[in-house]
Amino acid sequence: MALAHPNIALIKYWGKRDEGLVLPVTDSLSMTLDVYPTTTRVRLGEGAGPDEVVFNGVSASGEALRRITVFLDLVRERAGRTQRAVVETRNTVPTGAGLASSASGFAALAVAAAAAYGLRLDARELSRLARRGSGSASRSLFGGFALWHSGAGTASLEEADAVSYAEPVAAADGLDPALVVAVVNAGPKEVSSRAAMRQTVATSPLYGPWAASSAADLAEMRAALVRGDLEAVGEIAERNALGMHATMLAARPAVRYLSPATVTVLDAVVELRRAGVAAYATMDAGPNVKVLCRRADAARVADAVGAVVGASSVVVAGPGPGARLLDG
Ligand code: DP6
Repeated sequence: MALAHPNIALIKYWGKRDEGLVLPVTDSLSMTLDVYPTTTRVRLGEGAGPDEVVFNGVSASGEALRRITVFLDLVRERAGRTQRAVVETRNTVPTGAGLASSASGFAALAVAAAAAYGLRLDARELSRLARRGSGSASRSLFGGFALWHSGAGTASLEEADAVSYAEPVAAADGLDPALVVAVVNAGPKEVSSRAAMRQTVATSPLYGPWAASSAADLAEMRAALVRGDLEAVGEIAERNALGMHATMLAARPAVRYLSPATVTVLDAVVELRRAGVAAYATMDAGPNVKVLCRRADAARVADAVGAVVGASSVVVAGPGPGARLLDG
């Protein structure tokens, strides 16, 4: 059985260079969280028949099953084996809470499936494997802060595939960050991030400029993490996320994940800053807001955003551990 936690990007992954290999256009950097683990068990069946996937006690079908089967085919090919798999996975994220369940899901599946099929892979190779399931999953192999290399600048897709993995990045001990998650809407998203990314890259005139500025953001972010400068980390994360959403708003047709309630939470974050609290927002492919702050300020931030979305819709997270095998 394998365990993995979600991660939230402070420098976003948005846009692929190659969809089949899940190679991103830009590098991204995230914090793995200490809430909502996913646990996954993979057992091998007798023959080569269809895989069986049970998600929170319910049999998966359709697109979810197809995506996992494609991933398992990759593992089988690498292992030189053909047996079908029975996958049981439990995800404790409330449905649609916007905590990137595909990240913890495919990170746990990569670890559990590699072990079940007898593949001995180190964390870097597991990260490359998890990437093929969902790009952001490559980062959940590691605890704390992780940087996923895009592999851009390589001569071929094969070379990019070989070097596109995540690895831990250094941060000062004194940083002590928290991410306060404000759940604006717990419903499923209307447009998948995969489809939205494709549309943004293909049609948004702002995509190229954002990708270029993201590289500069990343360099500044790494320096700010090493300095333990939470204000700078937050400012860079917020502008990078808003820029990502700007690329989507400029797509044709526009992709808009942010709702009126999202903007009200953003106003509350600005108010907190006016009151002297270091609080910075980041949003992914949905309306929910994750607010980066010092752990010492987390209760105050939770109160402020809870006044907008309701106290029961707020979750406080800290840095969490990387994915791992829980038993043989
Ligand atoms: C906005 O990793 O879910 O959360 O690779 O197509 O599965 P696929 O996409 P996914 O996209 C995550 C996008 C994001 C930003 C991020 O996590 O970096």
